[in-house]
Order: sequence, then C-alpha cells, then structure tokens
Amino acid sequence: MKILVATHNIGKLKEFEAILKPRGYTLYNLEDYKVNMDGFEETGETFAENAMLKAHFVHALVNMPVISDDSGLMIDALPDILGVKSARFMGEDTDYKIKNQAILDLLSSKEDRSAAFHSAIAVVGLQGDLLFEGQCDGHIAHEILGDHGFGYDPIFVPNQRDMSFAQMGDIEKNKISHRALALEKFVEYLNEKED
Ligand code: IMP
Repeated sequence: MKILVATHNIGKLKEFEAILKPRGYTLYNLEDYKVNMDGFEETGETFAENAMLKAHFVHALVNMPVISDDSGLMIDALPDILGVKSARFMGEDTDYKIKNQAILDLLSSKEDRSAAFHSAIAVVGLQGDLLFEGQCDGHIAHEILGDHGFGYDPIFVPNQRDMSFAQMGDIEKNKISHRALALEKFVEYLNEKED
C-alpha cells in the first residue's frame, strides 16, 4: 500500500519508515510530492484534531492516502507549556538542547516529574477518516541523557525502561513509544479489515 507521510520532521519520518516499511507499506514524503505546508496552522485543541486537520490539508493537495501524526510531551507539573503546543515551546526554531535544558530548569524545584508522550495518527483517503492514538507514560530525567532520536527524547524516561528515549536507540524506542503504539493500532485495524 502506498501512503504519504505528512511531516517535515525527519525524526518522525524515520520512525514511520522503521515501523511501516517492514509491514509492506510504500511510504512517500512531502518532498516527494513537493507539498508545501506553509499555509497550514495547527488550530486544534487536541492532538486528534490537529492530526486530522494536517492529514486533510495534505490530502486536498495529493491524490493518494495520507497519514499524519500530531504528538507532544505532557508534563504534569507544567501543564500549560507543552502538550499540543510542544513544537512551539520557546519558538519552533529554538534548538532542542536549549528547550530541554529550560524544562529541566523549570522542574528543578518540583517533586512531581511525571510525564507522558502522546501521539494521534490520522489516516485520510483510505477508508474515510481514521484516527489512532498511543501514549507512553514516564518521567522527566534530572539531566540530558543520550543523543539518539530527536526533540524531547533526551529528557524523557519511559516507565518500562531505566534510560531515556535518546539513550535506547531506534529499535527499542519503536517497541514502546507513543507513535509506535498508535501505528500498531493502525496496522491491526487494516489486518482485521483484510481478514
Ligand atoms: P508536531 O510536529 O506538531 O506534532 O510537534 C510535535 C512536538 O513534540 C515536537 O516538538 C516534537 O519534537 C515533540 N515530539 C513528538 N514526538 C516526539 C518523540 O517521539 N520524541 C521527542 N519529541 C517528540
């Protein structure tokens, strides 16, 4: 099956490829179809709304199924700064080393370090509008840990492991991450449809 992944985020794209390619999907990206997302605004209040808006925006421009992800980090002690606004925290162009250090500084006086990554995956143009969500619970580390992955990976330690997403590398992360869980639900949905 051919599907266009609606993201400019190389880290996300690699994860989509690692999870969907071995299952027989042929993935295209925005560059392949010269899709310009400049006019797109994330106006939704939830990950699900934003994922669906993104997938519809791109699907209106290309004649093929589109899959999109809207995701982010939620930190219980800092409820207002990340979530659906995770990419915009301190500005989209700010280096994640600076963003991650700022989060560690904001949490330095807090006891509760619990956090979760959430992903909503929307698929448009295949069988109506499809939506799948995944969440990975964990906590924020006390320092920057590791240099694999992208974004907030170096400060997030999932409950199932004793290391950050950025320390464990792609294969381990793709077994337990929010995005992997949401994509797994998409794959299961299609497998059930085929049966
Ligand atoms: P989006 O592109 O609007 O969905 O923004 C997602 C934001 O959450 C970006 O700041 C990403 O860096 C961050 N994010 C989402 N998933 C992950 C992840 O798996 N690891 C690290 N950061 C992530």
